[in-house]
This record gives sequence, structure tokens and C-alpha cells, in this order.
Amino acid sequence: MTTWTPDQPRFPLLDGPSPFQPLARFSAALGTDAEVWIKREDLLPLAFGGNKLRNLEFLVGDALAEGADVLVTSGRRWSNHCRLTAAAGARGGMDVHLVLTGPPLEAPGPNQLIGELLGATVHVTATAERAERESLVSNVADDLRAAGRRPYVIGVGGSGVIGGLGQVLAGLELAEQAADRSFSVSAVVLPSATGGTQAGLLVGLEMAGRDARVVGVTVAAPAAELRPAVELLVADLGSLTGRAVDPRRIELDDGERGDGYGIPTHAADDATRLLARTEGILVDPIYTAKALAGLMRGVREQSLAGTVVFWHAGGTPGLFEPLDG
Ligand SMILES: Cc1ncc(COP(=O)(O)O)c(C=O)c1O
Repeated sequence: MTTWTPDQPRFPLLDGPSPFQPLARFSAALGTDAEVWIKREDLLPLAFGGNKLRNLEFLVGDALAEGADVLVTSGRRWSNHCRLTAAAGARGGMDVHLVLTGPPLEAPGPNQLIGELLGATVHVTATAERAERESLVSNVADDLRAAGRRPYVIGVGGSGVIGGLGQVLAGLELAEQAADRSFSVSAVVLPSATGGTQAGLLVGLEMAGRDARVVGVTVAAPAAELRPAVELLVADLGSLTGRAVDPRRIELDDGERGDGYGIPTHAADDATRLLARTEGILVDPIYTAKALAGLMRGVREQSLAGTVVFWHAGGTPGLFEPLDG
């Protein structure tokens, strides 16, 4: 068993490991020998759960250590990271400003409403342009500074090297849970948007001496665009932890993106129904259903075999988000 305690400041948001469970009926329905297990990051404790709480333990820790008193972050209107930043800020006694990509909906979507319920101030850009979002973030931070506040700005998805430490610990946690059950995981399948979760898991599994594949099913940028960012983060996390990962271990699968970020696909809808009707577990159309569809395809085509872990990264409120397509 590898235990590792990062030196970086950490603000506790988790109560313990997320559940790791077999999906017996789902595996049987796939009609292959693969055994599918699920890592229930969606059951992490705050505000409908989700993997990004792990990043926020280190980001809020860093913010508090720097003497910040307000968190500023940004993302698409369905951003789970934004919702969870609002929750983490509430836990840490910090104000939170969220900058969400517009254009504004006629009525705010569920993630925005939950963010507001958690006490965050929400700003929505007029257009879908990324440049507009970035400039609004810097204006919000400037206004806060001018008002005597000490803002801490968190990048999209909380996926830099500090946040990524949380995902390294998730990789170590998985290795320990598998070791407790005396089996080895052959592959982990997860949704990849910024690639931060994938990078951290790879480094964590490497630290635990595990050679499980980590397959990121792309849901936003395609693999060709995402790969350099994941390579960089893997390298940075490798330097921080002293454990280098061969970049050839970064596997990205573009097979479920469909028409792009936040646009549902039939394969993802089918995957959602199968998991719901065999196991009573819900996934969301933006992230986790696409990863699950990728897992089902891999298992059926036998490119994935043995014990395959579905990384349920959370995002369940996305089921209620109005989407195109
Ligand atoms: C539910 C869910 N799954 C997966 C991801 C993708 O994680 P990453 O940005 O680390 O690739 C996100 C990112 O926001 C998410 O909210």
C-alpha cells in the first residue's frame, strides 16, 4: 500500500474514500466476461457530489494559506466545478463569484440555481466567446480588489497542478481499494474535458505501482487538442510527486464526442438507460454518459477486458440542464 501526504495546504471537504462497487447486473447485460466496477465520485459529500471536490480541497487550502477571502472561478453553465466551488466556499467561509459562459438562458439552469442557492454571486457573459469569459473573470477580480477584498482565481475546471493533486490521491485511493479486494484493475474509463482528472489518476496509479490503463473519453476538446495539456499536467504532477509517467500511457478516445461539448448522443442515452435499469444509478448526458458509452463500446469490442472501472465523476444535475440537440 502506498500512502502519500502532499506538503501542500489542504482544506478537508471529503469524509473518506468514495465507494468502489461491482456492477454485476450491468456487466451481465453487456454479455461479455469483463467485470465492470464503479468508482462513485458522484457520492462525494457536498452539493450533489463530483470529482472536482478533490481538486477543491487543495485549491481552497491554497487560497486560505494565501490569505484570500473570496474565490473566483468560471466555466460553462453546466460546470460541476463551479457548483462545487460554491459549496466549498460555503464550507470554507469564503465568498464565491462564478463567471458562467452565456448567452444567458431565458431562465437560469439548475447548476446556476444551485450555485446561487449555495450563496455564490453569478455573472453570465453576453456571448459564448471564451475571451469574453476570461476578461469578465479579470474584471470581477479587479473590482473585488478595488473593494478591498483578496480574491483567489481558480482556472477552468480547477485543473492545474494544485487541483490535480486531489486526483493523484484519487488514483492512490483506487489502488488501495483494489488491493483490499485482492484484484488488479485492467482499465479505468472516465470523461475527460480539461484532462486534469485523467492526469492525476495516471500519476496516482503510477505511484502505487499499478499499470492500469486510464482511458479518457473526450467530451469537450478532441484528443489532438487535449493531449498536449494532459502531457504537461502529467509532467508537472510527476515533478511534484517524484513519479514520472510515460506520456504514451495517456489514452484518449474521441469516439463519443458526437457533435461536441454538452450535445447529447444516442449512444450516451442508451448507456444512461442501461445503467439506470440494471443498477439504479444515474449518469449525466454531458460527461459521464459519454464515458459510459465509451466503456460499453470497448467492452463489447473487447478492447477493454478484465476488471474495468467506470469512473463516475459526478455531474448528475446535468440531467436537468437544458441542452441543444
Ligand atoms: C462530472 C464531470 N466529469 C468529468 C469532468 C472532466 O474532468 P476534467 O476536466 O478533469 O477532464 C468534469 C469536469 O468538469 C465533470 O464535471
